[in-house]
Amino acid sequence: MLNIAIAGAGGMAAYHYKGFVAAGATVVAVCDVNIKNAERFATQYGIKRVMTFEEALADTSIDAISIITPNKFHHPMTVAALDAGKNVYCEKPPALNAHEMLDMLSAARKNDKLLMFDFNNRARPESQAIKSYIDAGEVGRINSAQAFWIRRAGIPGFGGWFTQKNLSGGGPLIDLPHMLDLALYFMGYPEPAQLLGVTYNDFINDSAFKGPWGLADVAGVVNDVEAAAHAMITFRTGQSLMMRCSWAELNERELVSVTFQGTKAGGKVERLFGIDGIDSTSQDSCMLFTQQHGRQVNLNVTVQPDESMGRIENAANFARVLMNGEEPYNKPEQALILMRIIDALYKSASTGKAVEF
Ligand SMILES: NC(=O)c1ccc[n+]([C@@H]2O[C@H](COP(=O)([O-])OP(=O)(O)OC[C@H]3O[C@@H](n4cnc5c(N)ncnc54)[C@H](O)[C@@H]3O)[C@@H](O)[C@H]2O)c1
Repeated sequence: MLNIAIAGAGGMAAYHYKGFVAAGATVVAVCDVNIKNAERFATQYGIKRVMTFEEALADTSIDAISIITPNKFHHPMTVAALDAGKNVYCEKPPALNAHEMLDMLSAARKNDKLLMFDFNNRARPESQAIKSYIDAGEVGRINSAQAFWIRRAGIPGFGGWFTQKNLSGGGPLIDLPHMLDLALYFMGYPEPAQLLGVTYNDFINDSAFKGPWGLADVAGVVNDVEAAAHAMITFRTGQSLMMRCSWAELNERELVSVTFQGTKAGGKVERLFGIDGIDSTSQDSCMLFTQQHGRQVNLNVTVQPDESMGRIENAANFARVLMNGEEPYNKPEQALILMRIIDALYKSASTGKAVEF
């Protein structure tokens, strides 16, 4: 038996609930600073108890807490939960910066508890298919990769927490770290060496660039985060990575992909959205590019579609790690490298200089 409490009953909570239940765990309580949100969610999913976060920490029948709040609260809530002896599943981004992430990693180690994040794109069927070729040695060493989460018009509302730097930590760079994380996962999460990054904030206050989802607009609040980020990263291993992400930029259409060039095979995981940016209209593909018997061969790998983009499977993995000792899809040490890269990119963008790690 594994008893889990959900903290933050907003847009993402249903995916966590469905994943935990699919794995055989029980969601025993829900907390939210907005009690109406907690009550609505508890009623919808038949969860017996609505309580405060502090009550959940003190309840010894609760084994794990799922933190699904605005980014600013990931660090204090995770550390409090780990120190209260709970295992923690936390939404992405792991924290506002690497300093906070290091604190969370230390708390997990000190209390000997599991800390996992919702890097759900690793749990997508396409990603796991590619990973099986990498793990079998059929890709060789990945020399170089390109990670894109490019939205043409995807600002998640005006004036909500997503677009206020003090609550979110930043714009698309921190909100859409998934393809950067996925590329690093494929590459073996190498230690970064050098980074050069640039951010742009054109269109960030232009309502024509608003996405088809997100939070309700709040009048009179200025969006103070970037609209797009571009970077080149090198690693101590000699590997290299190019990254682009945007909420608002003049691109052809939304594109979410990782491509890579290995010594035995190249490959690509791509989620190509329709112009509406809605998950159910997207098309997934998963390919490998090899050289066989002197000829160029492209493998088209067929996998089951997953409209939840791995969100349900990733939450289920957290529960199975605790219940059955399954290998976790992600580790907090990797989240620390990711946050160091994000910090370095903001630093490089503000100074105009490359950052040495
Ligand atoms: N993995 C993904 O694909 C994905 C997608 C969207 C959002 N997210 C992440 O999920 C998190 C939540 O996003 P969302 O879209 O569900 O946001 P949301 O605004 O819809 O919901 C957040 C909920 O948290 C509650 N809350 C705020 N502060 C709290 C606190 N201190 N304690 C308890 N509850 C609190 C709010 O009242 C609200 O109900 C964010 O970190 C976001 O980056 C992840």
